Order: sequence, then structure tokens, then C-alpha cells
Amino acid sequence: MAEAVREGGGHVVALEEAEGIVWSDPRAPEALGDTLAKAPQARWVQLPFAGIERFVHLLDRDRTWSCGKGVYAEPVAELALMLGLAGLRGLGTYGRATSWDQPRGINLLGGRVTILGGGGITTSLVRLLQPFDCHVTVVRRTAAEMEGVDVVLESDRYADALPGADLVVLALALTAETDGLIGAEELALMERHAWLVNVARGRHVVTDDLVTALRDGVIGGAGLDVTEPEPLPDGHALWSLPNCIITPHVGNTPEMAKPLLAERITANVRRFAVDEELIGLVDLDSGY
Ligand SMILES: NC(=O)c1ccc[n+]([C@@H]2O[C@H](COP(=O)([O-])OP(=O)(O)OC[C@H]3O[C@@H](n4cnc5c(N)ncnc54)[C@H](OP(=O)(O)O)[C@@H]3O)[C@@H](O)[C@H]2O)c1
Repeated sequence: MAEAVREGGGHVVALEEAEGIVWSDPRAPEALGDTLAKAPQARWVQLPFAGIERFVHLLDRDRTWSCGKGVYAEPVAELALMLGLAGLRGLGTYGRATSWDQPRGINLLGGRVTILGGGGITTSLVRLLQPFDCHVTVVRRTAAEMEGVDVVLESDRYADALPGADLVVLALALTAETDGLIGAEELALMERHAWLVNVARGRHVVTDDLVTALRDGVIGGAGLDVTEPEPLPDGHALWSLPNCIITPHVGNTPEMAKPLLAERITANVRRFAVDEELIGLVDLDSGY
């Protein structure tokens, strides 16, 4: 991180002299609070993750806040595609099988895909989906046209985008509005063969409702990189459901993340120095 700051033309200095703070620990909001109290002169804070829900209570208008939104888009989109394909083609069951099994699975090719969220991850996923010739619907807060997307809906219409989709991907920010967004009612709107892939945050989904839906065949299955609670405890019902594929929040591993975050830091240090708008600005009103 220090190298990334220097690469951008910045100097790594003592906290009391810092104009900006690059925060690298995604799980220590209290420590950042203490740090900010000691550096009232700092005008900018760069957060490490795309999701900033742990830091929302620290946001203030005295400083500029930027985060890792979009930074990890490529590796996370790759994982979302993998979970979707694996689910639709039956790998949850085949991966656990110990004998030759019945044919199962449907194509992603030519299928209908709904993505909740229209930011960095979605943009990358839509590009990866191009060769699959899917019909893609995106739901986001601001319904602007997106390249490669057939339909863009505003967030209050998310329920309209669930019926008919073969694959539903969650790639949206966690806010008060999107906490628990997918519960029993929403799962019931999905097709019985459809897979839900969550690469955003576990709290978007009501876990108990998902377990019931997976057990009762309300949906085809779920591919989860994130869960609530997280880490998912040993023995949790989700571990033993054959129509559930779980990866342990590895949309971007530390090895993948470090160079990508370093690139963002370098770019933002350069911009900060010449008063240019930073990349990945946090919208204080929306909280992401
Ligand atoms: N699994 C992992 O390892 C991993 C890695 C990185 C990120 N993530 C998670 O994935 C999320 C997305 O990452 P990103 O880089 O794509 O972030 P991003 O560029 O900030 O995108 C966030 C998207 O959420 C949308 N959104 C906000 N509220 C919404 C609502 N009520 N309904 C529908 N969409 C809504 C925003 O809509 P607008 O575009 O209209 O504002 C935006 O498109 C992050 O917030 C983080 O929680 C997970």
C-alpha cells in the first residue's frame, strides 16, 4: 500500500501530518474511528473494500471518502459466472456424488439472467456473459442504459425481474434498503429451476428462508460466495444441501485483491494531488 502511495507521487508520513488516509483493514472500523480522531487535518479517506457497510457510521462531510467499488469487479464476476454455470449444470449434486448419477442441468446458453446491482461487478459480468447470448436484465437504483443489457429496471421494480429468470445474480451494495431483500416472497417469485448466485453480501438474503426454499425445491439452487452469518458455522443446514454451492468469500482472494487495490490507490493519490475527482467516491446520502 505504501508503495502504491509513492507510485502515485505521494509521501507516506506520520498520521499528524497526513492529508489523506489509506485504510487497508476491511474489518476494523473502530480502529479507523480512533485514527480519524487523531488526524482531524486529513481531508480524504480511502477504504479498502467495495462494500463499506462496516464503515458507514464513520462517514462525515468534512472529508472526501472513496472506496474499492469496482476494484474487484473482474475476479468477482468470474466467480459469479462460475457459480451460475456450476449450479445450472448440476455440479452441486455431481460434485458430492459417489456413484454414476441421472442426467440433470440446463443451459446458460441463450438463458435469461437477472442481475441486481449495476456497478463494477455487473459491468464485468455482462461482458463475460456476451458469448452465452443471454437475455440480461439489470436492476439498479438509477436506471441508465447499459451496454450488453437488454432491460434496465429501477430498484423498486426488482420483484418484476425475478420471474422468468434462469439465473439471478446479486451484485448490489448492502444498504438499509437491500438488507434482507431476498426472502420467502422473492424466492417464491423465482422459477423452480432457477439458481440464485450471491457474490455481494450475505445479508441481502434471509438465510432461513433460503434454506426452506432450497429444501422444498422452490428454486433450483443457490451459489453463495457470501453468507449470513459469515463465516458460515460448521454444521449449518446450507452445507449439506446438494443444491447449494458455497465458496468462502473468495470473489477476490488477497492475492488477487492486492495489485488491484494498489492500482486504485495510486490512481487516487495522483488525482488527490491535483484536486481531480477521485475514483470510487462514496455517495454519503446513499451509503455506498
Ligand atoms: N464476494 C466478494 O468478494 C466481493 C468483492 C467485491 C464486492 N463485493 C460486494 O459486491 C457489491 C457490489 O460491488 P461493485 O464493485 O459492483 O460495487 P458498485 O460499483 O458500488 O455497485 C453497487 C451497485 O449496487 C446498486 N444498488 C444500490 N442499491 C440498490 C438497490 N436498492 N437495488 C438495486 N441495486 C442497488 C448500485 O446502483 P446504481 O449503479 O444505480 O447506483 C450499484 O450499481 C459491493 O457493495 C460489495 O458488497 C463482494
